[in-house]
Amino acid sequence: MSTRILGISGSLRQKSLNTALLRAAGKLMSAEATLDAATLHGIPLYDGDVEEREGVPTSVLELNHRIAASDGLLLVTPEYNNSMPGVFKNAIDWLSRPSPDAAPIFKGRPVAVIGASPGGFGTILSQNAWLPVLRTLGVRHWAEGRLMVSRAGKVFDDQGELVDEATREQLRKFLDGFAAFAASSAAGE
Ligand code: FNR
Repeated sequence: MSTRILGISGSLRQKSLNTALLRAAGKLMSAEATLDAATLHGIPLYDGDVEEREGVPTSVLELNHRIAASDGLLLVTPEYNNSMPGVFKNAIDWLSRPSPDAAPIFKGRPVAVIGASPGGFGTILSQNAWLPVLRTLGVRHWAEGRLMVSRAGKVFDDQGELVDEATREQLRKFLDGFAAFAASSAAGE
């Protein structure tokens, strides 16, 4: 059976470089793996009073179920002020809340992080900022590959198509490595 990766873009922007990176990743998966793309549209701001009154929102539960059905989670993160964007952290915070309608999705789940930035450092500080969060969630973080797409304004064209051959090869290699890790985790290795 094919290895199922769910990718989440941490940007809501229609012309997001990170969503473009996620889209490109979907086209580069090997024959043994698939990548399904999710966005954070519709996820409300975390509010403990809402949670107490109404439980975890439907949009969060829908994303929870998609993650639960996957073998691995790929976070495609922008960098804001040398860290991860609030909208992305907010969604992960909601997803970390227990609910009778939600599966526990983080503990032991294979997770990898990539990201794209128009600047020269390609989200390195944002990716580093995710590390304590991933450790707290108890995921299996795949750290053998690294992908920080810098100068991303030139790596994608105006339509968001990946036009840089070197990045394409780096992304393909990263995805192959992560999918193999997720597959071996799913097999109980
Ligand atoms: C940014 N940007 C940015 N880039 C970076 O490399 N390091 C940084 O610290 C920041 N800080 C930052 C803060 C805020 C509030 C914004 C809005 C932007 C630029 C950012 O990388 C750029 O806008 C990307 O295009 C955002 O990702 P998407 O939306 O294209 O996926």
